[in-house]
Amino acid sequence: MKGETTYTIAWDAENNCIIYIDQTLLPGRYEVGRCRTVDELADAIRRLAIRGAPALGIAGAMGVALAAARSGERDPVRFRRDLHRAAEILRSTRPTAVNLGWGIDRVLGAADAAGSVEAAKEAAVREAGAVAEEDEVTCRRIGAFGAELLPERCTVLTHCNAGALACRCWGTALGVVRSAVEAGKDVRVIACETRPLNQGSRLTCWELARDGIDVTLITDSAAAYLMRKGVIDAVIVGADRITRDAVFNKIGTYMHAISARHHGIPFYVAAPVSTFDPARSEADVVVEERDRDELARCGDRVLAPDGAAVLNYAFDATPLDLVDAIVTEVGVLRPPYTESFRLMEGKR
Ligand code: MRU
Repeated sequence: MKGETTYTIAWDAENNCIIYIDQTLLPGRYEVGRCRTVDELADAIRRLAIRGAPALGIAGAMGVALAAARSGERDPVRFRRDLHRAAEILRSTRPTAVNLGWGIDRVLGAADAAGSVEAAKEAAVREAGAVAEEDEVTCRRIGAFGAELLPERCTVLTHCNAGALACRCWGTALGVVRSAVEAGKDVRVIACETRPLNQGSRLTCWELARDGIDVTLITDSAAAYLMRKGVIDAVIVGADRITRDAVFNKIGTYMHAISARHHGIPFYVAAPVSTFDPARSEADVVVEERDRDELARCGDRVLAPDGAAVLNYAFDATPLDLVDAIVTEVGVLRPPYTESFRLMEGKR
């Protein structure tokens, strides 16, 4: 990406801080934000200035590194206690995306395993850098595996933003599109706007259009009709958590999966191994509920009367029997997923 940072989120080694593309401002403004404290990072995550499962994994990792690098504590016991406190602040920001806790735990583990405070600081920053770099490699692998699933000429529907902005770069679902285009395939994307925060219209359309990839915006509720008209060849989405029985992703994903199955259209999920949570099932997962104003207001405009209750789930769960394939960096998983999930246990 052009501008001050090539990546959605990166470590600024000179200033010991995190830099990120502020996704609340897109597509109107491209601005790079800075987090110098864990509280600033937690706020950026809650506001969805940094969002998308793999990017949250990197944010969690860099957040622990930030707490370590900026700590003035010399006592190893107190230093580690502070680090674990920072980790808990970050962990509590968003409950559904499993990558957040995964990134946090990787860096905590690296810091805990180091000897002195100085060694722990170095280990934390190094590990966070590794989490970020690996994400790029992972997305490229997902892209390469996923591209093979797409026909030479096709139109794919996607929901929310599982692109470069949701990762370090390239993307998962949109990484598949990018890799297919790079391989010479003629791929068009139908992007669902993704109410209420419009990650589809604001972010997916923005990043595909600036890469010159054919993208058309629709309302979320137009998806089934376009499938009925025969316009969609495949659906491809990302994931925030994949339990042994369901894929959690942005609210609205489930209805696309049902519609796709009804119309005989393949429904694919693209996600890294770090998004798998095979020890849990759907019932164990906390689905984030967000503020009523995201639905009831649009800026200064009131969209719903005060008397109306609002239920604003950020994610839904799609049962695995509606998922035709899960594209990961280790290959394409096909149903029944039981055996692949067993192998996942050791890989996370
Ligand atoms: O609330 P968000 O914008 O963080 O939700 C993001 C999604 O639902 C994405 O589809 C998911 O994180 C996959 S990102 C590769």
